[in-house]
Formats: sequence, structure tokens, C-alpha cells
Amino acid sequence: MSEAALERIEQGINTLAAQQEAICERLQALEDRVSKAVSGAASRDEVIQLLDGFRAGEALGEASIGAWIEVCTTDCVRGALRTIQQREGMHARLLEQRLRELGAQPTFEIPAADVEKAMKGLSSTEKSDAQKLLEFSQRYPDADVLLKPICDVADRLDHDQETQWLLRSIVQDERSTVALVHEACAMLNPQAA
Ligand SMILES: [Fe+2]
Repeated sequence: MSEAALERIEQGINTLAAQQEAICERLQALEDRVSKAVSGAASRDEVIQLLDGFRAGEALGEASIGAWIEVCTTDCVRGALRTIQQREGMHARLLEQRLRELGAQPTFEIPAADVEKAMKGLSSTEKSDAQKLLEFSQRYPDADVLLKPICDVADRLDHDQETQWLLRSIVQDERSTVALVHEACAMLNPQAA
């Protein structure tokens, strides 16, 4: 074999080696992206747990706000509470429906002591509406912080966009609720502002 032929073969081998290296690099990058996507996605168990817990909280919200409405003595607060209560009930039903569509059953129960505390606090006739609004506003000063755990799961649900956008639309309602309560609170508690 001539020297020139050997050189061509060597060049060919070098080119192949360089191509192989480039392919390996691209494969590695692809593998990194896939494993990142898989590990970042919310698991089914995580979603079921969130839907079930959120559903239970919303159902308690509907019941406890209902109890507040019954003893509410301020017209503007009652008007807001009626809307908020309906939203809570709707959220509970939508979340339960999605839970069942995903093949799970609602099982989570809020501890009895917590249920009693919420019901007693909001149905109290000793506390004024202004006081109840103030307590809520102080407990939840920032809607973003309150809703972050739900938003975080929704952001990792690209593989289930129905649940993702169900959660996002409920989050939007919750922001309205928090904003309305803060507004009513500021109006009825001018000294706290
Ligand atoms: Fe809610």
C-alpha cells in the first residue's frame, strides 16, 4: 500500500473518531435532559396526595365559611363570604372528580381537632367579623407563599395538563379570595393598617 493511501486511511479513522466523539457528547446531553425531565416531573402518588389533601381542605373551607355566614352580622362580609364559600365547594368537587378520574378515591381526612378548631373559630358569635377577617389576614399575609406548594406541583405537571390547569385555575380563584379578605379586613380594621 502506498504512503498516500495509508495517510488517507489514517485521516478517515481520525474523522470517524471525531464524529463518534461528537455523537457521544450529543447522546450524553440528551440523556441528561431526559433524566432531568423524569426526575422533575410530579409522580402520580404526589399528585393524588395533593388532590386528596387539597380537596379535604376545600370541603372544610366550604363548611366552615358556611358556619361563618350563618352568624355573620356585616352585609359586605356576608356578600363576599357567599361567593368564597361557593368557590370552595366547587374546588372540592372538581378536585374530587379529578382524583377519581385518575383512578383514586378520596381518603384523606383532616384531623378532628383541626376541623373543630376551624368550625368553632368561624362560627363563633363572640368574635366579630372584623376580628375573623384580621385573623385570616394575619395567618395568610401573602397569597404567593400560601399557594406556592400547589403552584410548584402544577409546574411539574407538563405530562398531565388537565390536572395542571385545573390547579392553576383554582390557584387564581384562591388569589381572588385572599385579595378580597385582605380588602374587607383593611376596611373593617382601619386601625390595623
Ligand atoms: Fe380554598
